[in-house]
Amino acid sequence: MKTRKPSARSSSPSSSSSPSVSPHYATTLTQQQTLPLFSNMVRKSSLFKQTLIATLVFLLAIYALFTIFFHTPLPPSDPSSDDDDVEISSRDNLNFPLKQIDGSGIAKKVKVFMYDLPHKFTYGIIQQHGLARGGSPVADVTSLKYPGHQHMHEWFLFSDLVRPESDRLGSPIVKVTDPEEADLFYIPVFSSLSLIVNAGRPPGSGSGYSDEQMQEELVEWLKRQEYWKRNNGWDNVIIAGDPNALYRVVDRVKNAVLLVADFGRLRQDQGSLVKDVIIPYSHRISAYTGDFGVKERKTLLFFMGNRYRKEGGKIRDLLFQILENDEDVVIKHGTQSRENRRAASHGMHTSKFCLNPAGDTPSACRLFDSIVSLCVPVIVSDSIELPFEDIIDYKKFSVFVETAAALKPGYLVSLLRKVPAEKIIEYQKAMKEVKRYYDYTHPNGTVNEIWRQVSQKLALIKLMINRDKRLVKKDLSEPNCCCLCSNQTGIISSLR
Ligand SMILES: *[C@@H]1O[C@H](CO)[C@@H](O)[C@H](O)[C@H]1NC(C)=O
Ligand SMILES: *[C@@H]1O[C@H](CO)[C@@H](O)[C@H](O)[C@H]1NC(C)=O
Repeated sequence: MKTRKPSARSSSPSSSSSPSVSPHYATTLTQQQTLPLFSNMVRKSSLFKQTLIATLVFLLAIYALFTIFFHTPLPPSDPSSDDDDVEISSRDNLNFPLKQIDGSGIAKKVKVFMYDLPHKFTYGIIQQHGLARGGSPVADVTSLKYPGHQHMHEWFLFSDLVRPESDRLGSPIVKVTDPEEADLFYIPVFSSLSLIVNAGRPPGSGSGYSDEQMQEELVEWLKRQEYWKRNNGWDNVIIAGDPNALYRVVDRVKNAVLLVADFGRLRQDQGSLVKDVIIPYSHRISAYTGDFGVKERKTLLFFMGNRYRKEGGKIRDLLFQILENDEDVVIKHGTQSRENRRAASHGMHTSKFCLNPAGDTPSACRLFDSIVSLCVPVIVSDSIELPFEDIIDYKKFSVFVETAAALKPGYLVSLLRKVPAEKIIEYQKAMKEVKRYYDYTHPNGTVNEIWRQVSQKLALIKLMINRDKRLVKKDLSEPNCCCLCSNQTGIISSLR
């Protein structure tokens, strides 16, 4: 731990508090020194020696006092400053905490190092996905194109960090190539693509690729990495966008900041809004580019998607039954396909409201499709978590309906029919304002926002790292929820 970021410590300029403190003390010291000496020289009385000794002792005392003041570290005055100096050990040279404030007073960007993962965790998965669909192997897997699907976020984040730093100027984070300089470590595994390599194929068919084996190998690889081991994974960031991604190993990587679509498959001790970041699905339909208004939107409520879902998604079938006979409601069963996407796109561009019921888990890609379509989302999913809620107020452009109420016959349509056109246009305007946050291809869109959210976790990550070091391992029967729900108080070893 002591070797962390040595360069930052030595290279930083002097603290802003130092220049303002020193001249004041220096002046006082000079006055104290000159005045008594001058008067003693003039008087030359018999008390001269005694006075001189007393004065010298006095001066020494003052000098000692000021020396102590000079070298006692003052608490940093800038609350946004970066804070490696919380460790007592780094203060033993009794210097000011110099490196926290840069000259301009602007908080420094968080530095991220991306692991150079073996290809079997990235491009190799694209290859496997192709092979399972009848493709042939290529010599250079890095030439492969990532296939489009609703959890493409892993590709966009990876691509962003692969770019040269000179192309990343507007980014809220800085990519570093020396892990010693990094605050956070990104694990760019294509975990969601891995999950669907053999989707819809009987087990054992196709290329013989195993997602579970990939997960196990990833954890084995991580456990050998110095920067995973160093802080028990707390300062690592891993992407598991699909609610089922990394399901087999999530217990072993849960200390990392998880980038997830929802917490539907995670236990309380595995995922939390405090530690993790909710990320949007990548929308699959074309954005609406027309004007605000309701004239071209004849349909009141639109939904197209899989009618039959497991678990939380059971309400879908019930909603179908209630809604399918209403004239101004279009509700269609359809699975993901190019043709269905075109139909969904058209439906969302010509409807006032778009229904977003829970899928197998509380989240669903349709929400982000409706936002880019300026079709007011009607969210019927009681435990949904939404991306970027610290800056986005979803009530400004969405209608939330409790599941129990939505299942009352007639309730939903009569509620929506009562919404005046002006209100719908207001919702549409609010959606247009936030649209870029759901656009992974926007230069200041989803990718930047995810990194900004990740950066904000840094203070908590440092807290967890330090706390972790002093905890005693003990299994608890009740989860301890003081910061993250956990049924363990600590780590295997308290000696590191
Ligand atoms: C990017 O978006 C953030 C807010 O999401 C904003 O603060 C920042 O100014 C934007 N940057 C540019 C270059 O537009
Ligand atoms: C923590 O609790 C979960 C159930 O909530 C359980 O599956 C898991 O084994 C527990 N872990 C420990 C270390 O007790």
